[in-house]
Amino acid sequence: MTASSGTSSSSDTPSGIPPSGTPASGTAASRSSVSVAATKRFSRGRRSSARRRRRSSALVMVLGLLATGVLWTVLAPGGNAAQTPDANEAVRQGRALYLQGCSTCHGLGAQGTNTGPSLIGVGAAAVDFQVSTGRMPLAAPAAQADRKPPIYSATQIDQLAAYIQSLGGGEEVPKVTDAALNDADLSHGGELYRANCAQCHQAVGQGAPLTYGKFAPSLSEATPVQVVEAMRTGPESMPVFGPRQLNEEDATAIAAYIKHMKEAPSAGGYSLGNYGPVPEGLLAWLVGVGALLGVCLWIGARQKV
Ligand code: HEC
Ligand code: HEC
Repeated sequence: MTASSGTSSSSDTPSGIPPSGTPASGTAASRSSVSVAATKRFSRGRRSSARRRRRSSALVMVLGLLATGVLWTVLAPGGNAAQTPDANEAVRQGRALYLQGCSTCHGLGAQGTNTGPSLIGVGAAAVDFQVSTGRMPLAAPAAQADRKPPIYSATQIDQLAAYIQSLGGGEEVPKVTDAALNDADLSHGGELYRANCAQCHQAVGQGAPLTYGKFAPSLSEATPVQVVEAMRTGPESMPVFGPRQLNEEDATAIAAYIKHMKEAPSAGGYSLGNYGPVPEGLLAWLVGVGALLGVCLWIGARQKV
């Protein structure tokens, strides 16, 4: 279409009005045909310089197009064409699972109802945490959702997470690799754990009751990914620990420390139930001082006789 309009416009240049085609291509074509007519009347030198100018502007245009193409391939968002159908499929499957298992409490569009909060913007991390720890789907309203064996498979959880993520974005499922856990600084993780988590989850993560029938659960079953998800999404009465408070490295160090607490054998002697230094110290005092008192009483009793 552009080729035909170009030739026809150059044939009726006197009028200067291209019969059809876009205005831009029309004016360019008529301008070039005007200059063709003009160069015929001028000297050879003028003609070749005009041609050179035309040639160099064409070169600039080609270079510009090339540069745009290169920039596009370098800077374009990594939209992976091969990945999109899969992602759409996961969202579609996730929506079906959601409508069946979650919409009664969270609403048909995840906007929330009076039996469940809105899930728009909570992100894939919250869904992965809640469903992989079996907290959701909630069986019945209670002070706090309990950890239970999950009822959805890992694939289904990914699909549910993809659907909720597609609604309003939010925190993505964190990637915690074994390599990162192995490289993590355990003593730093221990310091952070004692400063941020131990007041609720206790010294070795055994958990403890909170007020109003709520409780900080034991951390012995949480996977490192669930630990980071809990920090980032703050389930129930647990506070959110965002990346500004605990960056990725800190979060991984805490996860590694919790994993280490679960796996490490006791440092030695009796663990006394791992209740931490204060109760263990207290027990040592009570037993030790009690034994000394007993000895004193025994000596006193013997002297009287
Ligand atoms: C019986 C009602 C009920 C059902 C069914 C249910 N939920 Fe929930 N959900 C709740 C309530 C109530 C809360 C808030 C209390 C809590 O977190 O313990 C909640 C919280 C959540 C949260 C945390 C939101 C946040 O702000 O971090 C997520 C995510 C979630 N639900 C996902 C799901 C998914 C996915 C399903 C389906 C597999 C589901 N829920 C089924 C009642 C329900
Ligand atoms: C204010 C008390 C509080 C603090 C501080 C706290 N948590 Fe929690 N945590 C909770 C409560 C309450 C829950 C249970 C939430 C629920 O069931 O919805 C919980 C749940 C968890 C779980 C899920 C356990 C499981 O297996 O189901 C993990 C993991 C966790 N917390 C890790 C942490 C880490 C790591 C820190 C420190 C960075 C931390 N928590 C700080 C109160 C707290």
